[in-house]
Amino acid sequence: MSRPSGRVAAIVGGGVIGGGWAARFLLHGWRVQVFDPHPDAPKHLGAVLANARASLPALADVPMPPEGELVFCDSIAAAVSDAQWVQESVPEDLSIKHKVLAEIEAHTPAATLIGSSTSGFKPGELQQNARHPERIFVAHPFNPVYLLPLAELVPGDAVTAKNRERASELLRSIGMQPLHVRTEIDAHIADRFLEAVWREALWLVNDNVATTEEIDNAIRYGFGLRWAQMGLFETYRLAGGEAGMKHFIAQFGPCLSWPWTKLTDVPELTDELVDKIASQSDAQSGSRTIRELERIRDRNLVGILRALKERDWGAGAILREHDRRLAPAQIHEMPERIDSTAPMRLLDLTVLPAWIDYNGHMTEFRYVQVFSDTCDKMLAMIGMDADYVKSTGGWYTVETHNTLVSEIGVDERIYSTVQVLDASDRKMRVFYCLHAGADDRLLATCEAMYLHVGRESGRVCPAGETLVANARAIAEAHAGLSVPDAVGRFVGQRD
Ligand SMILES: NC(=O)c1ccc[n+]([C@@H]2O[C@H](COP(=O)([O-])OP(=O)(O)OC[C@H]3O[C@@H](n4cnc5c(N)ncnc54)[C@H](O)[C@@H]3O)[C@@H](O)[C@H]2O)c1
Repeated sequence: MSRPSGRVAAIVGGGVIGGGWAARFLLHGWRVQVFDPHPDAPKHLGAVLANARASLPALADVPMPPEGELVFCDSIAAAVSDAQWVQESVPEDLSIKHKVLAEIEAHTPAATLIGSSTSGFKPGELQQNARHPERIFVAHPFNPVYLLPLAELVPGDAVTAKNRERASELLRSIGMQPLHVRTEIDAHIADRFLEAVWREALWLVNDNVATTEEIDNAIRYGFGLRWAQMGLFETYRLAGGEAGMKHFIAQFGPCLSWPWTKLTDVPELTDELVDKIASQSDAQSGSRTIRELERIRDRNLVGILRALKERDWGAGAILREHDRRLAPAQIHEMPERIDSTAPMRLLDLTVLPAWIDYNGHMTEFRYVQVFSDTCDKMLAMIGMDADYVKSTGGWYTVETHNTLVSEIGVDERIYSTVQVLDASDRKMRVFYCLHAGADDRLLATCEAMYLHVGRESGRVCPAGETLVANARAIAEAHAGLSVPDAVGRFVGQRD
């Protein structure tokens, strides 16, 4: 994966959120120029970046671009002047934001996109007195910015459709999912919603109904899990059973007029209430440092997001789409000439962070995955594409024998080869090898047998003519190769 050339992002304000943006851009190969007057900003950002390096790459199943360069600047002007994207992440104070935005505008050409991380201000408020309001918008992320894909994109009336589209595309290129908030309101969509939940939680603590820990347990053991994968409405739709959403509203609608909630009242944040919340929170989590909690949170999020990715659902579907963007699918065709002097080299890969086990080496099932991916590539090459599978059938794996020979670590290059031992119209026997890219060291082997199964019949049947001809052509080219020692071995036989 090559580095996107000339991509520069400026981060103005490098705290919790600015640090997260910086990490996301850097890990997608951008040069990042940060301005933050706080003397500890580099130290803080370094800690955020360490967390991001340990988690974001573990979401990808394709190589990410080489990390970009991080530069701290001593003025806004130096940070923003050659940036394509400026992300303002200074404290939530409109007068500070106006001052900073004016300075950003003074040192950037009119084409530079300027996003604000504001949790609550409307774009119209940010754009007051702007020289080019058509490029200033809200890009509201969620902490940790380097893991959570959502960015609420609130353009307001002034931002041009073209700039909105440019901003969306750019956010997608760093793995984010822009949610276009069509109407500008205080706190956008998500924070307005969270505010309602937060208000209720404050009342529950204020009224001694529940502690901070009990409230968190009520969320994380139950509805929080539902929300993470389906949101609110689709979850409630299921709660209505077969009768669906209308039934759900008929059943629970009346509750809305019962005194279930405090509605819009807010408890006054007296010293007493603040102390109560803080001491309960200390008792709940105070034995762990913020950094420890951040790492726990990140590992949990990676696990949840990867589970959703397996299901190609919700935030996981965004991750899959992002993988495809980072490494577009290739078309596999039969080579014009098949080399008869060596097995066919099919996959060239880098060992990804997500493939590493507790020993720091590529974990066992990833070897199997690489062989399976190699098989997919070979089958695609001989003509088994999606149309063939839909209309005719496919080759089914019926037997494999793997040997694991040597270890390999993260970021190392590997490649796989295939030798077709035997190919008929119904059966194929194939031998794969996995090698280290640096020194050709053998890492693993796999002998596999495939049978061709018809889609309709579910039974073994002859494969299509093209597939058989292509498979035979490879087998014939490989007929002169020596049969590898591992072929036909029983489990445990090493020589
Ligand atoms: N914390 C969250 O969960 C969260 C989530 C989404 C959005 N936001 C929004 O992101 C923005 C930043 O919030 P945060 O939580 O990162 O705050 P923070 O206090 O962690 O960081 C703000 C940073 O801005 C720096 N700063 C102050 N004045 C500056 C200036 N004039 N120029 C450059 N830098 C300056 C500070 O030194 C600090 O490092 C706010 O608008 C907030 O509403 C926060």
